[in-house]
Amino acid sequence: MNYEQALATQLASHTGLPLEEISQAIETPQDPKLGDLAFPCFRLAKAMKKAPPIIAHEIAASLTNAALPWIDEVRATGPYVNVMISRSDFAANVLAAVLEAGPRYGASTVGDGQKVLVEYSSPNIAKHFHVGHLGSTMIGKTLDNTYRFLGYDVTSINYLGDWGTQFGKLITAYLKWGSKEEIEKTEIDGLVKLYVKFHEEADNDASLNDEARAWVVRMQEGNEEGFALWRWFIDLSLREYERLYKRLRVSFDETTGESRYSDKMDAVVNALTGKGLLQESEGAQIVDLEAHGMPPCLILRSDGGTLYPTRDIAAASDRYETYKFTKCLYVTGNEQSLNFAQWMKVVELMGHEWAKGLVHVPYGMLLFEEGKLSTRRGQVIKVDDLLNEAVAKAKAIIEEKNPGLANKDAVAEVVGIGALVFGKLYTSRMKDTMFSWDRMLSFDGETGPYVQYAHARCCSVLAKAGLGADADLATGLDATHLADNEAFTVMRLLYDYPDRIKEAAEKYEPFLIARHMVALAQAYNAFYHQHIILVENAPEVRQARLALTAAVRDVLKGGLELLNIGAPESM
Ligand code: ARG
Repeated sequence: MNYEQALATQLASHTGLPLEEISQAIETPQDPKLGDLAFPCFRLAKAMKKAPPIIAHEIAASLTNAALPWIDEVRATGPYVNVMISRSDFAANVLAAVLEAGPRYGASTVGDGQKVLVEYSSPNIAKHFHVGHLGSTMIGKTLDNTYRFLGYDVTSINYLGDWGTQFGKLITAYLKWGSKEEIEKTEIDGLVKLYVKFHEEADNDASLNDEARAWVVRMQEGNEEGFALWRWFIDLSLREYERLYKRLRVSFDETTGESRYSDKMDAVVNALTGKGLLQESEGAQIVDLEAHGMPPCLILRSDGGTLYPTRDIAAASDRYETYKFTKCLYVTGNEQSLNFAQWMKVVELMGHEWAKGLVHVPYGMLLFEEGKLSTRRGQVIKVDDLLNEAVAKAKAIIEEKNPGLANKDAVAEVVGIGALVFGKLYTSRMKDTMFSWDRMLSFDGETGPYVQYAHARCCSVLAKAGLGADADLATGLDATHLADNEAFTVMRLLYDYPDRIKEAAEKYEPFLIARHMVALAQAYNAFYHQHIILVENAPEVRQARLALTAAVRDVLKGGLELLNIGAPESM
């Protein structure tokens, strides 16, 4: 049931204005006391040759309960027509929709037939997965889930940083100082140590740099020994990444990397030359972007070496050829915004119509209160350590609050990691996020655990009533028992939820979903504290309140799922 639409249809037939225009004009009053829906009459004044308040009066008089049975009251307030929706009608409609869909309430088919690629995570081989990649992974995964939920045909891509001159250095260092056994055991730690040692030694011995460069050239010529080592470095790195992805509940349709495009540079260069876009500058090949207010985009280095944006141009063409995407999203830290703006502009200048579907989705930094450490610049915080700490802290809280809980470790894993993920997703993505364990893990703040706890509360109320996840609470539901303010606030949030999901996808903003989850959890808790749910001797009231509880449980679970966070049934 779409109330705005129904009201708009009625007003269109009354005023003769186009339906579209009326739909857009209908709003939700800031002050809920004024009404649930409002229609401003200003725009009718000219056509009807009357003052807006007079028009508002006439319309109000015409909007009767006979015309729209769900109307409770209509008032003309100045130039506005304010409509109060019958609360029981509203509750009946909303609950019917939610209980039928379950946790998939809000899913839609708007994306049918449209291909969307979401590229995210994309860590750099032989380096630790760092907190910046965690941000990309969490935001990307939510967009991935959300677009799928809306019916888009999504392919998720992990685009590894697996190419570049650093591999020449690493191979050189490994052959000089490395041991297979040691590296097998220490994985990325060992590789990072070798890389650091290379730089220390190269400060005194410049010939090392020549050797590294020689390896880069050999690799370009397909040298088997070099490739075997390089593939091994990738395997070792993926071992760490895979462990994290498992804990973060992430998997990709496609894991690829920059190396895949290392030999596609000629095609890019030829295409750019053909369009007259390429220029020489100090020996390098560039595309001048001065007319577009940006520094030039570097395409080829003076030594013929390939570059990050050039690989991206090749990758984007390949993705378009393969998938004919409507949109291709790239989720990375906002320090890469200029780089993306540049190469995307180059693709546009090449005359590719599909360039309009390329979207960079940048995000702000994760900062830590302890030591005010900016992880993109300073020291690298290992994500594994971060997850372990979150889980340990969650476990301590659970021990204190609910020592008798079954599966404490499993719940702590979901709550701890959920707290971290939610903490990042709760602010609009361009804002830097200041992490604080206390704030993030609080069971009564605007946090992941708070939302999970509300979900667990719903589950426990339903369990007490002897109802499982598939109990039928819709049949025979009498929603007149849900006309109180607290229930209405819950209904309003349930009703608005599908629009919030769409908005989150359109704006690439997971925080819109996260905030809605907190608001719903708060509204449910207010309801729970104000009303006894398992009332005795009033089975209809009891059923209505349980139905509301089941609907909240489903939507909290569905919303947490979109954010890629688990929802334990007790905690
Ligand atoms: N590997 C890069 C990094 O860690 C991110 C890759 C982003 N994606 C892209 N198509 N350039 O910074």
